[in-house]
Formats: sequence, C-alpha cells, structure tokens
Amino acid sequence: MALNLTLRSAWNSPSMKGLALRGITTTAASRMAAQKPDNLKKFKIYRWNPDTPAEQPRMQEYELNLSQCGPMVLDALIKIKNEVDPTLTFRRSCREGICGSCAMNIDGRNTLACITHIPKDEPSKDMMIYPLPHMFVVKDLVPDMTYFYKQYASIQPWLQRTEVPENKEILQSPEERKKLDGLYECILCACCSTSCPSYWWNQDVYLGPSVLLQAYRWMADSRDQSLPERLSKMENTFSVYRCHTIMNCTRTCPKHLNPGKAIAEIKKLLAKN
Ligand code: SF4
Ligand code: SF4
Ligand code: FES
Repeated sequence: MALNLTLRSAWNSPSMKGLALRGITTTAASRMAAQKPDNLKKFKIYRWNPDTPAEQPRMQEYELNLSQCGPMVLDALIKIKNEVDPTLTFRRSCREGICGSCAMNIDGRNTLACITHIPKDEPSKDMMIYPLPHMFVVKDLVPDMTYFYKQYASIQPWLQRTEVPENKEILQSPEERKKLDGLYECILCACCSTSCPSYWWNQDVYLGPSVLLQAYRWMADSRDQSLPERLSKMENTFSVYRCHTIMNCTRTCPKHLNPGKAIAEIKKLLAKN
C-alpha cells in the first residue's frame, strides 16, 4: 500500500507530469512526421469530357492524405469530387456492393469501387482507375450501359408460366430453391462481361457472362415454364457459343459468383434438348 501511494504521488508530481506530457507530445509528433509521407497516395484517373470531344482522353493525378479519407476506393473518389475536383464523374449509389453502379477498372481489375480497399501495403504505388474496358464512355468513369441492358431485356428476365394458379402461391422444394443460389445474387455490375475477351470482340452478337448467368437463373427456376423458348433463342453460333471458357468472368466477379459455370450449364441444356 505504501509503495502504491509512493508511486501514485510520484506520478502526480509536476516534474513527472511534465515528463509524461513531453513524452506523449514527442511520440505523437514523431509518429505524425513518420506517417506523413506514407499517408499520401496518388490516384491516376481516366478523364474524358464529351463536351470537348476533340480533346484526347487523359489520366489525371490526384493526391490524397489517406489519414483523412475513408478506407475504400469509392471514399477516395467521393473525397476528390467533394473537395478537389467537382468535375470528376462516376456512378455510385448504395456504397455497399449491392447496386453495381460503381463498377470500374481498378489497378487492372474490374471490380466495385465501394468494396475495394485502398491498399496500405504499398503506399508509394499509384492507383490506376479506368472505366470498365471495351465499353463506350459517357464521361470519365461512366460507361455506356445501353447495349448491355438491351441484351439483358432480350433474355426476358422475369417468371413466365402458361398456367398461373389462382389465389395460390407457386411452391418450390428446398432443393429446387437451392438451385438459384449463386445466381440470384448477381447485381448486373457488368464486371464479368467487360473482362471477357469474347465479349470485347463480339459484343453485338454474344450475350456475355453477366446476361447469360441471368438467363440461366430463369432456366434453373422450377417455377418457370418457358425453358424451350428460352433455349431456342440461344440456338445459334453466337449467343452462348462465343464463350471459350477462358474464365476471366469468374475470376473478376466481385460477388464471387461463377458465370463461367452458368454458361456451361446452358450449353449442357442446349445439348440435351
Ligand atoms: S456475375 Fe458477378 S461480375 Fe457478373 S454482373 Fe453478376 S455480380 Fe457482376
Ligand atoms: S468463360 Fe466464357 S464468358 Fe467467361 S470470360 Fe471466358 S469466354 Fe468470357
Ligand atoms: S455503390 Fe453500389 S455497388 Fe458500389
């Protein structure tokens, strides 16, 4: 007890307090000095403005202090737009990997900006941010999704039945429902389609992994009665068979889905029917 009291009173003495405060201040200052260069990160971002079409697209550099920015790439883009350059244009909505609108190419990979961490391990390495590849660009990081959505509409992504029971639910067994796992979670971000070399070169005729995964989602649904019609639309050389199983699509999917497998299942159904 005596020792405890002695220690406590020694700690409370003015000289000890001064030492402690000096110690804390020095540590904090040296930590800040050490952190400063590490916390600066450069973002090189694709810029193109449709209002000045004669100007070539260019990469613009922005530098941010990461200690004043959220941890995700979308946080950095929002900070740049809010505080540095309001002309920077990109899509985003949910900021939690649900809407698919912030899909872009980050450091060479198609992914969602809102669920991609700004890497801390290589602070000196610049981040390269482009719009989704092989799409027309509306402005900066915004790709033109018009044709992609037309393709999506072409597979008629809704439940189709010849008879609809009156005042009754259409039931599924747990096994039938399980067949939709890994399909219904697709958020139509187009990361997979725009990473597929076949889609890059045959976009006008090949449906691409995203739309094909959605097509299979309805083919696999036990409540749907339009399987023959759905398959007959794909019985041609291009819609499905431009897939050469390169699997870029599955590698890049930010929701960890497997569009390559869904395409293989459609090919099996086509062979069977
Ligand atoms: S399969 Fe994955 S990458 Fe492709 S559209 Fe769906 S969520 Fe996006
Ligand atoms: S598996 Fe098929 S859809 Fe996926 S990237 Fe390869 S060619 Fe494209
Ligand atoms: S903002 Fe919705 S998925 Fe990124």
